[in-house]
Amino acid sequence: ERGAYTHFMEKEIFEQPTALENAMRGRFSEDGSTAIFGGLNITPGEFRGVDRFVFCACGTAWHACLVTEHLIERFARVPVEVDYASEFRYRNAPLDSHTLFFVISQSGETIDTLAALREAKRKGYKALAINNAVGSTIAREADGGIFQHVGPEIGVASTKAFTSQLLVGAMIALYVARMRDMSFSDGVQYANALKAVPGLVRRALEQAPHIKAIARRFAHYHDMLFLGRLSLFPIALEGALKLKEISYIHAEGYPAAEMKHGPIALISEKCPSVIFAPAGEMHQKVISSMQEIKARKGPVIAIVTEGTELPAGLADETITIPDCHEAVLPIVATIPVQLLSYYIACERGCDVDKPRNLAKSVTVE
Ligand code: F6R
Repeated sequence: ERGAYTHFMEKEIFEQPTALENAMRGRFSEDGSTAIFGGLNITPGEFRGVDRFVFCACGTAWHACLVTEHLIERFARVPVEVDYASEFRYRNAPLDSHTLFFVISQSGETIDTLAALREAKRKGYKALAINNAVGSTIAREADGGIFQHVGPEIGVASTKAFTSQLLVGAMIALYVARMRDMSFSDGVQYANALKAVPGLVRRALEQAPHIKAIARRFAHYHDMLFLGRLSLFPIALEGALKLKEISYIHAEGYPAAEMKHGPIALISEKCPSVIFAPAGEMHQKVISSMQEIKARKGPVIAIVTEGTELPAGLADETITIPDCHEAVLPIVATIPVQLLSYYIACERGCDVDKPRNLAKSVTVE
């Protein structure tokens, strides 16, 4: 039921605080220092022995793999490889004996992801799944895994399923980190940051009316760039994917500094950039990228941390997100790009819940 909402996508965007609450329920240790998962079917000892992870998925779920890679490598210091499921299934990737294989699939029915899972199992690896559909083919065939528990997602463009995949990925990073060299108190701080996510997402959603107004001014463009760094590079990819699939505007995501190696040729007054510029170690670097865009008359929509001031004249529009822990920043930063693509698509009169040429689950190769 859509209730008071115009589209399922809108409803699913706004129900994310509750959805994320559900995805976390019962998944913290009693002492509050790590995550716990009921259905991994692998002992903590086996998990402790893993020295490499491989994550495979398609589309939006592949972006969730990239964020998870960043968090596991950053906090647990274990190497992670991410592959498109459609490539993994054919490229005969070498895996070694201490590799743990994961797929991420909202529907649990995506044929390429299922084929990647089967290939890993054929090779004798334990293959786990992050999945939102109890009883789905992937849920049945995986050796174990973690359900997202966010309820059915009806809108073709993934929203709450994506943010809950990021949350589960962040919880895996905590679990692995605490088995290695993350201290008890850092674990508690990280877990508390995860518990704060629903409230932070609620705050990010308060920007909706402001983002709707921005969407009215940007709905007529034909091309857009999405730029971000570190864990927000995958969110730039996600923002670009969301925009193209529901509004049919051509969009691309890049790591912000990569722009000068080619995409900068696209910048003009006709090609706006959405750029993540949160407070933190990369802030000044991102400001330099913004200056390069402005010098070429590119319109800029900047997504910044509440309370930060950008140098005058750098951004045409500013959207704020609440300050938060690094592990949850990708989740919080996703909200404004979901809203922006949703409102732009509405402004263009697009069929948001059923975009052309797309199906909710892709069961053909
Ligand atoms: C985009 C989108 C798709 C899916 C992809 C994988 O908004 O929803 O890119 O993420 O088709 O689907 P699942 O997660 O069901 O395997």
